[in-house]
Amino acid sequence: MRINSRFFVLNAILALATGGIVYTCMSVENSADLRRRDSVDIVKSTASPESISHKTPENFTVAFIGDQGAKDNSQTVLQLIKDEGAGAVVHAGDFDYENDPALWEELINDVLGPNFPYFAAVGNHDDDLFYGEDGYHNVLARRMNRIGIPWDGELGVKSSFVYNGIFVVLTAPDLLGTGHAEYIRDKLAQSNARWRISCWHKNMNAMQCGKKGDDTGWGVYEESRKGGAIIATGHEHSYSRTHLLSSCEHQIVASTSDTLGLAQDDPKTPDIDEGKSFVFVSGIAGKSIRNQDRGGPWWASVYTSDQGAKFGALFGVFNYQGNEGLARFYFKNIDGEIVDDFYVTSPSREEIVSLASGNQ
Ligand SMILES: [Fe+2]
Repeated sequence: MRINSRFFVLNAILALATGGIVYTCMSVENSADLRRRDSVDIVKSTASPESISHKTPENFTVAFIGDQGAKDNSQTVLQLIKDEGAGAVVHAGDFDYENDPALWEELINDVLGPNFPYFAAVGNHDDDLFYGEDGYHNVLARRMNRIGIPWDGELGVKSSFVYNGIFVVLTAPDLLGTGHAEYIRDKLAQSNARWRISCWHKNMNAMQCGKKGDDTGWGVYEESRKGGAIIATGHEHSYSRTHLLSSCEHQIVASTSDTLGLAQDDPKTPDIDEGKSFVFVSGIAGKSIRNQDRGGPWWASVYTSDQGAKFGALFGVFNYQGNEGLARFYFKNIDGEIVDDFYVTSPSREEIVSLASGNQ
């Protein structure tokens, strides 16, 4: 709402200056030009790499959300995240839907505080005001600097960092930048972290249960899977989670067990693809809830308006009960109901190396 009036004023000035002839087309072109030009002024990472812990605390809880809005329900989901004792949020894009970075930050700060570790990838409702002095990028980047988390690349677009021993890659396929799949591949290959999260906003049609199309390409999914990273997305306004997959592109189910074993592809065995992971869409953080339009045997959990879905978040509890290689995941709605509950295992770097040497 606020930005609409801001654009109205800008457009009115432009219209006056140009005799009112090029009103609409100027507003679109200027918005895009502004976006590119301001990208050189983005806030840079200032924290020292030594400032960050590489240990995951016992029962360290991360909330995964997307498609939030700035409504009462959005605030209620944030309160749920606080009440669950989460230590971080990974937000897969589409923030306040009002083009108002200050409003969005206020929403977060009111519930979680200004120094809460809140990580986000850009969504299609965020890219117009992503750059610029007070854009979403800088809101997120200043928070990272306040907390003392250094990151690589352009935050929320093609970026990665470690927090509490969890390696997070945030990208923006089909939104901003290029080469996301290669970035994901390279950064996951360089990381020694046991737990990896690869997050972006958009989808491929078969990787969501609504009407979203083939936007991202398969590269980001497949490189994340091969790198043993949990694949966190949004965009479709429902919750859905696959079984463990040995191919995202071909929707090949590796196991239907409720304990999903992440595995990295071993580059020394080019004929075998050992990578296994799962995909989820967590897109009901407050904006709206949509119906189910499609499914398939690769889905382990589907929660849409057809299932009577209520807003909520997916929680991942890492180093679960002191087991460093185990995480418990559950989706909880704002009425406190758990609608999906599963475990995830991930090997340590040492276990991967000894497994690989045994393969030879
Ligand atoms: Fe979206």
